[in-house]
Formats: sequence, structure tokens, C-alpha cells
Amino acid sequence: MKNIYLNIYKPNSRNLKKAKKIVDNNNVIGLPTETVYGLAANAYSDIAVKKIFRLKKRSPINPLIIHYKKLKDVKNDVIYNSSLEKLYKAFCPGPLTFVLKKKPESSLSKIATAGKKTAAIRFPNHRVAKKLLEIINKPLAAPSANISTRLSSTCAKDVFDEFGKKIKIILDGGKCKIGIESTIIDLTGKPSILRPGKITKEKIERILGKKIKIKKNFKKINAPGQLKLHYSPGIPVEMNKINVSKQQALIGFGKKFRIAENYFNLSKKGNLKEAANNLYKTMRKIKKRKFKSIGVIKIPNTDIGYAINDRLKKASNK
Ligand code: TXA
Ligand code: MG
Repeated sequence: MKNIYLNIYKPNSRNLKKAKKIVDNNNVIGLPTETVYGLAANAYSDIAVKKIFRLKKRSPINPLIIHYKKLKDVKNDVIYNSSLEKLYKAFCPGPLTFVLKKKPESSLSKIATAGKKTAAIRFPNHRVAKKLLEIINKPLAAPSANISTRLSSTCAKDVFDEFGKKIKIILDGGKCKIGIESTIIDLTGKPSILRPGKITKEKIERILGKKIKIKKNFKKINAPGQLKLHYSPGIPVEMNKINVSKQQALIGFGKKFRIAENYFNLSKKGNLKEAANNLYKTMRKIKKRKFKSIGVIKIPNTDIGYAINDRLKKASNK
């Protein structure tokens, strides 16, 4: 059989150098992180960043997350504060994104930050992302590697399914360990969570020693990804279902969930982390099998289950 995945590369040192060259030429690469795969480019270059927006069909008012190797690397771009230092110490590198005030003298592409006075920064915890950031020696703007409003990619082949050969290289870092996007916390004022994730509100409160809010009303576009249809498999999704017809798929959870051709179990053990990790992969599989719609049983709203429900709610928007 012909190998169609010719732009998926093993992340050995030769291919990392190849990826660096592509980034240095202001082109886009597929990059594994511990959360989801990113579509990464030089965060200091308008030309490079524009290519990300074009490929994703992303609205220009929706800013990108900027990825760095270490805290000291952000000093020219954003203004530090004590919450950032505490949370960095506790969780980074890891699945937590900080929104901070941008320094006026920052060289970050204004297109990447959508002309905002703030920037979202993150320190990914994946050996390939870390190595690449080290050899590239500049930050990478990287949204999730999917066409806008669709499901994020959790393995290299998903990235290929989204963009085919439109990107020169997809580094294959295996299956993402977490499988849903990072938690986003806004630290420009009173800390508030803009997008839930594996690092929960409770974990953050423990480190900061105070209560924090989860922002729900996005009247002013703070994180446009939060607005309407998002994380969509491309077919209708309905939450809190108990059963479905044969043309529909039902996503469930736990050992009591029935075994049937149209039933898909996110975690037989009833483990929420495993369920989060299987969520996008399962929805992609259901779409490929040509089911007309997806029902999802009630998922516990605790721990990372809160983030699962957040994604499902947006996927079920019309
Ligand atoms: O896990 C992740 O965060 C992945 C991996 C690749 O790092 N990235 C990711 O990026 O999920 P993206 O672009 O799909 O989602 C980023 C979200 C968007 O909803 C965007 O609106 C928000 O971050 N965002 C970016 N900059 C912001 C800012 N300055 N203020 C508020 N929200 C911001
Ligand atoms: Mg995304």
C-alpha cells in the first residue's frame, strides 16, 4: 500500500533540525505537546503567523498561544507577576496557559496576539516540543492543529487528516498524554479561568491561597474560542443522553456501559483522565464510521470531567 503520510516525521535529531529550518524560513509545522498537537510557527514573524491563520481558517480576532521553553524566556514579551511565578513553580512545564499584559516593547507578532494588549503564554511538557523550542531559540505561536471550530488533534495522523500535505512536516510525538487543551488562566487582574483543563480550579486555588472564578460570560471577546460552536466533530452532539437510535453513536463511561456497535466507552474503568484522553479520538472515530450524530451520557462534573463537559457543551452548540 502506498504510504500517504509522507510529511509525518520521526522526531530524531535530523528531523528536528529539518523542522527548525522550516520554522526559520517562516513556515508552519505540526508539533506534539502533552495536551494536543499544535500548528506552530515563529511567534515573532507576521508572515509566519499569517500562515497559521490561513491554514486553520481562523478569525483574525482570535489570538494564539505563545509557547516558550522556560519562564526566563518570556521576560521581554510579558509582565511578570507573583501569581505567575507561583503557578509556574507548581505546574510548569505543563498544561497551563497564562494570559498576561504584553510589554509594549515586545517583538511578538501583533497578528499572533490579535492586536491585544495581552498575550497567552504556555510552557509545554513534551520532550519533542521542549527540544525544538531549545534549538529554535525563539517562541512558537501554536494553536491546536485543527481547522477552526473542529476537534483538536491528539496524534500525528489527526493533523494529517486536518491539513494533509499543506504543512511540510508533522513531528510524530505519539499520542498526546492528556488529550484535551490546556487550562487558561487570566492573570491580568483578579485571576480567573477562561478555559478549564487538567489543572483544575481547586488545584490553582490551593497554590494561590485564594478563591478564583471560572469566567462564563464572554461578552467582550476575551477568548473567542469560548463563544459558539467549537470542538465539533462535524456532526451534531447532544449531552446527557440515555439511549440513541442505531444510526446514532452513544458515548459512555464506566464499566456498566453497554457493549454495542454504536456504543463507545471512554473509560471502562470509569477513570476521568482516561476519558478525557479518549474523547477527541472517539469522536473522530465515530465521524469516520459515518454515524449521523453523537449522544453522550452524563459525565461526572468533577476534576477533569469539568473540562470534558466544557468541550461537550461547545461541541453541542448549533
Ligand atoms: O493545549 C493547548 O493550549 C494547545 C496546545 C497546542 O498548546 N493550544 C490551544 O490553542 O488550544 P488554541 O488556539 O486552539 O486555543 C487558544 C485559546 C483560544 O480560545 C484563544 O482565544 C485564547 O486561547 N487566547 C489566546 N490569547 C489570548 C489572550 N490574550 N486573551 C484571552 N484569550 C486568549
Ligand atoms: Mg483550538
